[in-house]
Amino acid sequence: MNIMKKLSCPSFFLFFIIFLNSVNVISADDHQLQNYQQVMLPGVVGPESIAFDCHGKGPYVGVSDGRILKWQGPPLGWVEFAITSSNRQRKLCDGSTDSRMEPICGRPLGLKFNEKTCQLYIADAYFGLLVVGPNGGQALKLVASAEGVPFRFTNALDIDTNTGHVYFTDTSTVFQRRDYLLAMMGGDKTGRLLKYDPRSKKVTVMHKGLAFPNGVALSKNNSFILVAESTTMQILRFWLHDDQNMTASYTPEVFAQLVRFPDNIKRNHRGEFWLALNSARWMIKKADSVPWFTEDPVGLKFDEMGKVVMMLDGKGGEALESVSEVEEHGGCLYMGSSIKPYVGIIKLNT
Ligand SMILES: *[C@@H]1O[C@H](CO)[C@@H](O)[C@H](O)[C@H]1NC(C)=O
Ligand SMILES: *[C@@H]1O[C@H](CO)[C@@H](O)[C@H](O)[C@H]1NC(C)=O
Repeated sequence: MNIMKKLSCPSFFLFFIIFLNSVNVISADDHQLQNYQQVMLPGVVGPESIAFDCHGKGPYVGVSDGRILKWQGPPLGWVEFAITSSNRQRKLCDGSTDSRMEPICGRPLGLKFNEKTCQLYIADAYFGLLVVGPNGGQALKLVASAEGVPFRFTNALDIDTNTGHVYFTDTSTVFQRRDYLLAMMGGDKTGRLLKYDPRSKKVTVMHKGLAFPNGVALSKNNSFILVAESTTMQILRFWLHDDQNMTASYTPEVFAQLVRFPDNIKRNHRGEFWLALNSARWMIKKADSVPWFTEDPVGLKFDEMGKVVMMLDGKGGEALESVSEVEEHGGCLYMGSSIKPYVGIIKLNT
């Protein structure tokens, strides 16, 4: 598809909604591509996470060559917005899809704008937590270790809309992103949930010993945070009781048990949560054990109680076989991927 195509939601065709056990199911299979559009990236892959700025512009995506790109609409298409590596070499990095280059070029995974300051916070797998202003450029590294232990695989983040505190995950203190399969297969449990306070510039370890902590999302009123624990196929909930109490211990509860490996979680404007399920299609046999049987769940929308209220069904096709994030914005679902060369978009019937 043409990258110059206008990326505006209302021009997309409607998709089908099927009611199944009172859960809305959205399907976008390869034979019904009119439901759905792909916006190709300029020669790179892996738009893992998707963000919109405080004016609703974007999407912004972090890609395989370490850059954060911004969609400017036609005729510009994608333009470079920011980079995370301070010694990034353009000749080596620009256009790279080689994961061996990531420690030099950077690999921005988690992206989120602070709604008040319009700054973009970035979780880069190799360079820790960074921030860049509304005009982009070279991002500033904020923190790259906690309790004396360096981050090894900074992954996802969300921002408290009242305090500006940044909650983020370091997936492992042992394995880097390139070796994520080793971390999962070996049952690595060195992941951490962290909090960064932009005023004091201090980082706090909220919880350690997590098995591949991945996406994070705060609730609409910032009373709790959800963390996708990929290896255990669970979403954990941490209540954020006493924010001032730095010694408070945070004990998670299981918010949802899943049938596939969860990746990023994003909250929509109604306070619901879209969870992306990275495909492992052999896992589907387990779906018999859950009440909301589906063929190929690649995204689930949860309410605040942990109930599934909508499902994105990939129908076994290639288009949605690797969904890392589902971001609801302006009546559309934007779908990221850690390997695909495009951002997928489905218009919602709202
Ligand atoms: C915030 O939301 C949670 C979950 O819906 C609810 O239990 C809590 O009472 C709310 N807190 C405030 C202060 O509104
Ligand atoms: C802080 O949290 C700890 C652990 O939950 C608790 O024992 C302590 O009483 C709290 N301190 C204050 C001042 O709330």
